[in-house]
Formats: sequence, structure tokens, C-alpha cells
Amino acid sequence: MASPKPAPTRDTKPILRALAGETLDPPPVWMMRQAGRYLPEYRAIRATANGFMDFCYTPELAAEATLQPIRRFGFDAAILFSDILVVPDAFGQPVSFEAGEGPRLDPIETPEGLSRLAAQIDLGRLGPVFETIRRVKPQLPAETAFLGFCGAPWTVASYMIAGKGTPDQGPARSFAYRWPDAFQALIDRLVEGSILYLRAQLDAGVDAVQIFDSWAGVLPGREFRRWCAEPMRRIAEGVKATHPGARIIAFPRAANAHLPWMARIAAFDGIGLDTSADLEAVARDVQPHVCVQGNLDPLVLIEGRAALDQAVDDIRRALGRGPHIFNLGHGITPPTPIAHVERMLERARRPLNV
Ligand code: CP3
Repeated sequence: MASPKPAPTRDTKPILRALAGETLDPPPVWMMRQAGRYLPEYRAIRATANGFMDFCYTPELAAEATLQPIRRFGFDAAILFSDILVVPDAFGQPVSFEAGEGPRLDPIETPEGLSRLAAQIDLGRLGPVFETIRRVKPQLPAETAFLGFCGAPWTVASYMIAGKGTPDQGPARSFAYRWPDAFQALIDRLVEGSILYLRAQLDAGVDAVQIFDSWAGVLPGREFRRWCAEPMRRIAEGVKATHPGARIIAFPRAANAHLPWMARIAAFDGIGLDTSADLEAVARDVQPHVCVQGNLDPLVLIEGRAALDQAVDDIRRALGRGPHIFNLGHGITPPTPIAHVERMLERARRPLNV
């Protein structure tokens, strides 16, 4: 299969080579939420911090959390330990996490509520995040890629409007239908802030960045283009305007029908696949244009045994003829046994004759 982009020779890290369009057998591997509560060493340091945001803003702890899964498993990428909700925090909308309940923000219920937000992101508030990157960078093995990230404007805005997680992001969808101009203004502000935030992460030392649109799948086509795809494209182009060598992965979760045209957006070097992606269709319509990443079901990783082996092999066979980064279809969850992660890695890294 033709590579979508010429592979530069200077990339030595497998993930960057895959993002440049190279087909690698075995594919490089990392896991979304690889630093997290399934790891006893994570739970131990998490218990030393007051709240989750404090944890994210303490470079010593965040750097340690970033490195833990690299030391234990030797993944091909480390992902910065932080959260997508530091961005509303840096716009002046404080975020807290209640134990076991997820994020809490003072909701923005009307267009007037937007006046509580700063006009621009306060990168000074995010100084500890950049310090975390500077601490981690020299401790990574030479072949390990370092990934930064941000949330996509739609997903971040949906938490800013609801003030918490909801089953279907109903409050933000209603807000956008009722007050499209105010919603557009919020999205624009998040696009600008995210560009500055990702550029600063790259300046601090990450190799590539992922844009998480976890709630892309709840929007009808017109809204998907306007609130998900277009803002993600603007962020990717804005970052590349100053950092042309940066590699960018877009993860529009549960938006499979849109992947074939999104794969043609030149500023995206990788597209993240969620668990439900049809891999035959992806290999035919998406992978010829862009590197794909994914998509093991986090639930089969809890189950283990033959079901896990089968699922890993299915993904390898379906996506092994083009550029692919092996990953989960969504984040790993706390009940996952560590032995199953080891088994997944061993199997994902076996050469496979496709
Ligand atoms: O290891 C990594 O992937 C890097 C760190 C990371 C976290 N969150 C740490 C975290 C990343 C990349 C995220 C992204 C994130 N955060 C997303 C997008 C990806 C996705 O999962 O859909 C979203 C929607 C959030 C917002 C968020 N953060 C929620 C809704 C929650 C609560 C739900 C939960 O899993 O508890 C969080 C908390 C959070 N972020 C935890 C971690 C490790 C768990 C909290 C803890 O340790 O106390």
C-alpha cells in the first residue's frame, strides 16, 4: 500500500515513523489512560495529593505518573499526565473533581455566563504542565515518543456548559441550537487557546500531540462538521503554522461515518479509532490517507484469555498493511489486571505475517 506521506529519515521513534506514513510490523503500542488507577504505583502517589487538579499541577507527581507505565511496560509513547479540563481552568472557570464523581465546574447556562471567562488562555496558570514536560523529557528512552494533548473544543465546551459529565452532552447541544453565535464564540476562544497551549507543550518538549474529541459521536452531521471537525482542523493548522514538523493525532470518538473524509484533512497525521470502528472499512477508506490508531475494546482487556488474543490478532490482521499505532478504542479502566496488559503487549509486538 502506498504511504500517504513520504517518510522522513530523521524519525527514529516508531510512533513518529508510523505518523509519517510508514507501515511497521509489529506496530508501535501505547494505551489511552495508561497512567491511571489500574496501576498500584499510580494509586500510591495519587493518595499523596489533595485533589486531582492539584495532582495535575504538581510537576514532581505528574512527571512520575507519566513515567510509571513506561518503566513497567516499555510502551512506545509516554503521554503527558494532565487532564483536558486544565483548559477551562486556565480560562478562569475553576475545575474540581469529587471523589468517584468526575469533574465539577460552575456551569455556563446562558450566553451571559461566557463573560465570566477570560478573553485569552492564561498559559502562566499552566506553567506546572510545561514544567512536567521538561522533567519527563530527559528521562525517556530515546525510542519512546512523548505525546502532549488537549481536548477538542466541542468536548471541552460540553463540560464547561453542563458543569459535569452527562450521558449525552444534552446541555451543550441545546445551548448550541439556542444560541449558535454565543456557542461559536466559545468554540473560537477554545480553538485559539488550544493552539497556544499545544504550541507551548511542543516548545517544552513533546514530540506529537493528540486532540481528544470524546463526545464527537453525539452530534448530527451538520453540527459534527461545525463544532467537531472544523475546530479540530483549525487547531491542527494553527499549530503547524508555527511548528510545521509537529505530528498531530485527531481522535473524534464514535464518529466512524466521518472518518473517510476526515482522513483527507492534511493537517492530521493520525486518526484515532474508537472501539466500534469497522476495521475493514477503515483499511479501505481511511488508512490509505492517514495513519490510524486503535482500537482494542477496554472491556476485552479486562476479560483477558482467548478473547483478548483474538481481539489483538483481529486488529493486527485488519490494519497490518498500512500505517498503524496499536492502542485501545478508549481509555483503560481501573479494574483491568496488569497481567492482561502484559499479554496484550506481548501479542501486539509479535511479528505477524499478514
Ligand atoms: O494516561 C493518560 O491518558 C494521560 C492523562 C489523561 C487523563 N485524562 C488523566 C485522568 C488524559 C489524556 C485524559 C483525557 C480526558 N480527561 C478526556 C478525554 C479522553 C476520554 O477519556 O474520553 C476526558 C473526557 C477527560 C475528563 C475527565 N477526567 C473525566 C470525565 C474524568 C473522570 C472520569 C474518570 O475516569 O475518573 C477525569 C479524571 C481523570 N483524568 C483520571 C485520570 C487518570 C482519574 C481521576 C483520578 O485518578 O483520581
